[in-house]
Amino acid sequence: MNTCSSIGIGLAGFGTVGSGVWNTLERTGDLITERTGGAVALHIAKILVRDVAKVRASTSAVDPALLTTDWRQLIEDPAVDIVVELIGGTTDAFEIVAAALKAKKPVVTGNKALLAERGVELFALSREMETPIHFEAAVAGGIPIIRTVQDSFIGNQIQSFSGIINGTSNYILGRMTDAGLTFDVALAEAQALGYAEADPTLDVNGWDAAHKALLLSTLAYGFSIDPAEIHVSGIEQVRPADIHFAKSLGYVVKLLAVIRQKADGAVELRVQPSFIAQTHILASVHGVFNAVAVHGDAAGESLFYGRGAGQDPTASSVVADLVEAARGLRQASGHRGFLPYRESGRILPVEETATAYYVRFDVTDRPGVVAEIARVLADHRIGISGTHSPVNPSNPDAEFVDMVFLLHTCPFGKLQTALSEIAALDCINSAPVVFRIENLG
Ligand code: NAP
Ligand code: HSE
Repeated sequence: MNTCSSIGIGLAGFGTVGSGVWNTLERTGDLITERTGGAVALHIAKILVRDVAKVRASTSAVDPALLTTDWRQLIEDPAVDIVVELIGGTTDAFEIVAAALKAKKPVVTGNKALLAERGVELFALSREMETPIHFEAAVAGGIPIIRTVQDSFIGNQIQSFSGIINGTSNYILGRMTDAGLTFDVALAEAQALGYAEADPTLDVNGWDAAHKALLLSTLAYGFSIDPAEIHVSGIEQVRPADIHFAKSLGYVVKLLAVIRQKADGAVELRVQPSFIAQTHILASVHGVFNAVAVHGDAAGESLFYGRGAGQDPTASSVVADLVEAARGLRQASGHRGFLPYRESGRILPVEETATAYYVRFDVTDRPGVVAEIARVLADHRIGISGTHSPVNPSNPDAEFVDMVFLLHTCPFGKLQTALSEIAALDCINSAPVVFRIENLG
């Protein structure tokens, strides 16, 4: 076996994922070299951190000379051939990625926020510099979904994706359902396990999943998407009562991403807590696991399932990208980042999206409340399939109660109009909470 000279990696970020990359290369570096017939040998040449003095228990001993707090060293050091960005955020990370591309150093990143918010600029720079950005770890952790969409489904018109693409939210919902934990305790567990973002707000408000959904959509439909066009809501409003009510009706609550191309080419793109049937395969995706169902016109339905967050699964995707980037350095393989292949496209306005709904109202408990709400819904021709008022066993005479309505399929815009009228009723104490009831087939 002929072994080429080793390729130097500049690792920006040595937290959960960065140290996972270190460990994975320690464990499997030689195996990678064997499997590539000696074409790829990798070593970490420089590591960017915020604090060089921090004790890093999750890795074997690291030569302190590798550590730096100055990202420019990764760009300027000739020993660094590939830059791996794993610091997160969209400011310093942008500077590092842009500088690496300008220096013609291929980039590997797991930063979906960066690519969703500033990908247009970065992918343009990547094309200009003929230097790729690899981003398998940015969507669904250890599941190789980016490569699958880019390569394996290249001959398919993608009709839809639906899936669970935030491990932290799925973990929290599961722990609230199965162990009766509070939201805050379940979130603290997800953070301790290394699943959550440095700012977990993005996990629980749905935006981490929305960034990933945007990336999948751009790959499938070929045009750049403004994040402001995505309809996003997160799991912060899910209460144990919703989970239990869903269960009693044969559903589970999941944070679901739905991406679907309509007959006129418009793309429906939304992320929200949703009721899905307990019998649907996505209902059995638990804990940190993610699943993405892809419908291609040729392949039909495929399901990709695996760990969606955490140190080792994410490092697995980063290392796969590193090998691809290294192969590209050895032998030009063409640009492999995102190539927009359509000038523009249309995101379906959320008002035009239609599903059935679960709506929870916080009402003052007095006679006639149900009729008042039902009258407004009837005025807007929105059908009701059920109503329910869960009684609080610890306070059966409570003045304020939750009143739940299950509504037939209607356009979301119509529902919004009705809800704004209902919100103005005397008996309504706060903004109604809406979850979708998805019929995933
Ligand atoms: P993390 O544990 O918070 O680690 C961040 C690392 O970056 C730390 O080593 C930190 O240095 C360093 N850092 C942060 N800002 C810096 C700056 N301005 N200058 C220099 N160093 C800086 O984050 P993570 O969970 O590994 O996530 C990293 C990226 O991977 C994020 O984009 C995230 O979205 C993505 N990702 C994470 C997961 C996951 O499961 N965690 C999965 C997929 C993708 P110190 O160590 O000195 O503090
Ligand atoms: N915080 C993210 C999640 C990490 O929980 O899914 C993986 O992208």
